[in-house]
Amino acid sequence: MPESFFIVSKEYPELAIDEIITLAKMNDRYAKVKVISNLVLVQSVTPWEKIARRATFVKIAGQLIRKMSNVFFDEANYSLLFGAKSFMCKAINLSLKQVNVVEIERSMGSMVSTFCNAQVSLEDPDMVIYTIFTDDENFFGFSTRYEVPKRPEKLTKFHHELDWKLTRVMINLAKITDENTVCDPFCGTGSTLLEAQSMGIKAIGIDFDEKMCQITKDNLKVNRFTGEVYNKDFEYMNQLKFDGIVTDIPYGTASKVSEPPKKIMKKFVSKIPKKAKFAIMCKKGLDEGIKLRLTKKYEIYRHKSLTRMILIK
Ligand SMILES: C[S@@+](CC[C@H](N)C(=O)[O-])C[C@H]1O[C@@H](n2cnc3c(N)ncnc32)[C@H](O)[C@@H]1O
Repeated sequence: MPESFFIVSKEYPELAIDEIITLAKMNDRYAKVKVISNLVLVQSVTPWEKIARRATFVKIAGQLIRKMSNVFFDEANYSLLFGAKSFMCKAINLSLKQVNVVEIERSMGSMVSTFCNAQVSLEDPDMVIYTIFTDDENFFGFSTRYEVPKRPEKLTKFHHELDWKLTRVMINLAKITDENTVCDPFCGTGSTLLEAQSMGIKAIGIDFDEKMCQITKDNLKVNRFTGEVYNKDFEYMNQLKFDGIVTDIPYGTASKVSEPPKKIMKKFVSKIPKKAKFAIMCKKGLDEGIKLRLTKKYEIYRHKSLTRMILIK
């Protein structure tokens, strides 16, 4: 079974690791995952590029090479390297040990040059060959170029909008597949719709504030995205068909609210369709006493007076 590796940023380590695990298992429920600090190793039939393209916090990803022959690569990977015109070697030290990264990269580079015709290129190589050091084990891997979806443009922003990384990771943690439709019943500026569409996922937005609906529509239009947007109360979601909800519950500070956030939350939770998957973000406290079956709950500290929760099912 092919193995891949993902080095994730340390911005939101728990979200980043769970996102890779979710994406790996979403495509292949038998996928096996091992986590070493911010290195996530995945044994799965899913190609690493498919996971890397959707993931939010991946810094480096590629194919892991376990079987090491005395010429460094096994046969399959050897032919890949032979197809490459240029390569680069990179050593990554995730261990507490002192590692002479520059020296390792140089000697690996000259070793690889001896058995293939590819030229070293530090600019934009066809292939990057990695040596990854951890405290327990060292790994070899490689990556080839892969297409990362273009970041959607936001014509109009608003101070209450959710940042794209949290929006995107929520879509992934909610296991929204390419075939699904996601609904954001408090869509604001349309962050969920934009992220979903950039991943090729159909999206629906609802907001009771007409101005917000217009902002969402404009933001979709500038990216040539489609998406239904309804200027209605969130309860309108019960008239619509979708597979999952990804949303950020009003905080009662920066944006308009129809009623106090606690009341909105209670009513909203009672209206969520039973089969719907979801990732709901809310201010810490709004989730207390709420009857919802969750698969996971995350706490995200923002500043002294704002800690957010992400509730997943
Ligand atoms: C926290 S903001 C959402 C921000 C959004 N995630 C974004 O990135 O722009 C909450 C939104 O809920 C909307 N809202 C408040 N009460 C609502 C209700 N009863 N039904 C639908 N939308 C509502 C507000 O107009 C606001 O745009």
